[in-house]
Amino acid sequence: MFRYFTAGESHGPGLTGIVEGVPAGLELTEDYIEQHLIRRQKGYGRGGRMAFEKDHANIQSGVRFSKTTGAPIAFLMTNRAYEKDDSNWPIVMAKDGERGDIERITLPRPGHADLVGVQKYKFDDIRPVIERSSARETAMRVACCSVARKFLKELGIEIGGHVIHLGSIGYENWNAVRTIADPLADQGAESIYKEADESDVRCLDPELSDQMREEIKVKRKEGTSLGGIYEIIVTGLPAGLGSYVHWDRKLDGLLAQAIMSTQAMKGVEIGLGFDAGKTHGHNVHDEIIHENGSFKRRTNRLGGIEGGMTTGMPIILRGVMKPIPTMIKPLKTADLDTKEEQDTRYERSDVCALPRAVVVAESVIAPVLANAILEKFGGDSMEEILERYHHEE
Ligand SMILES: Cc1cc2nc3c(=O)[nH]c(=O)nc-3n(C[C@H](O)[C@H](O)[C@H](O)COP(=O)(O)O)c2cc1C
Repeated sequence: MFRYFTAGESHGPGLTGIVEGVPAGLELTEDYIEQHLIRRQKGYGRGGRMAFEKDHANIQSGVRFSKTTGAPIAFLMTNRAYEKDDSNWPIVMAKDGERGDIERITLPRPGHADLVGVQKYKFDDIRPVIERSSARETAMRVACCSVARKFLKELGIEIGGHVIHLGSIGYENWNAVRTIADPLADQGAESIYKEADESDVRCLDPELSDQMREEIKVKRKEGTSLGGIYEIIVTGLPAGLGSYVHWDRKLDGLLAQAIMSTQAMKGVEIGLGFDAGKTHGHNVHDEIIHENGSFKRRTNRLGGIEGGMTTGMPIILRGVMKPIPTMIKPLKTADLDTKEEQDTRYERSDVCALPRAVVVAESVIAPVLANAILEKFGGDSMEEILERYHHEE
């Protein structure tokens, strides 16, 4: 089974990742990983870091002549901010010596891990909390999860996401999204992300894209920030991944955990999600039909999962991201030392990271799906797995 670990701080020398449980014989290159890393870095609403931070995951082990060997895959990714000639970070983040006169951070930022982090770990400086809770870590998550994503692709399973709401701008309803996204999903979910990537806010509708961009411009001027809602679609799945027999094997629960473990996510929906509670059953449940030799659903309002198992229809999952907590216009906070009320300090930050978060969400669900596949069709090598997988079909 796929497992992965990440380590590293936002302004330390770099990030490390280890992916374990990858079958042998999967074609994998740094270029494949890099395309998703680059996607994660692109999007309207970015702050200053983008200008110098070009991510590259260096494969250290587990791959030989572009094929996985079955051994753990280790990645190294440097933080260019640390490496720049005039960088102060090697001093601030030094692993030896004393802190000396290096500034302590004592103003916790609302909406961040800052205050609870120092309370929990008994720090007198917020710096270590900022460094590890930062979404910089998602760069390594994308690298690690791209291995699972490539594995799925070999089986014809594709993942693609797009933005459906950014601040107050978005599609009118479920059907409006279906009209634009489903014809693309019919060609495989990667068509969705490829089309969405044409827009710097990752929205499939050009008119909405313009409005979203404008919304970001306005909110940037106001010194505030924005979040929104994205939709991830997975196509090419067989029926019966996951299980209804035990709570920790239900695929919808596992997918939700993966999304909720990502920085700034505040909710997950499958299919109609919360809207399903606002209408009656005939507007929600998908009728079963038998067509061209197999069972299907006439609609897909339950988002491809029933009883914790894939139905064979595409998975439709949505996630909501809260607005970025670091904002130019300050909020009030209390100083750790003096306990006095103060304005938060602004450090370079994105105004809206939603378009980038789409790529993170696409990535983090890949190991969950890959494990559901391995549970059912598992083997040590791609050859073995592909044979079992296609035998089942
Ligand atoms: C791709 C991505 C980029 C982010 N960029 C920023 C940022 O530039 N500034 C910021 O304050 N928060 C940013 N966040 C959100 C914070 O990391 C997150 O809100 C914080 O760590 C607290 O965790 P929580 O929101 O999950 O409770 C980003 C999140 C993601 C997914």
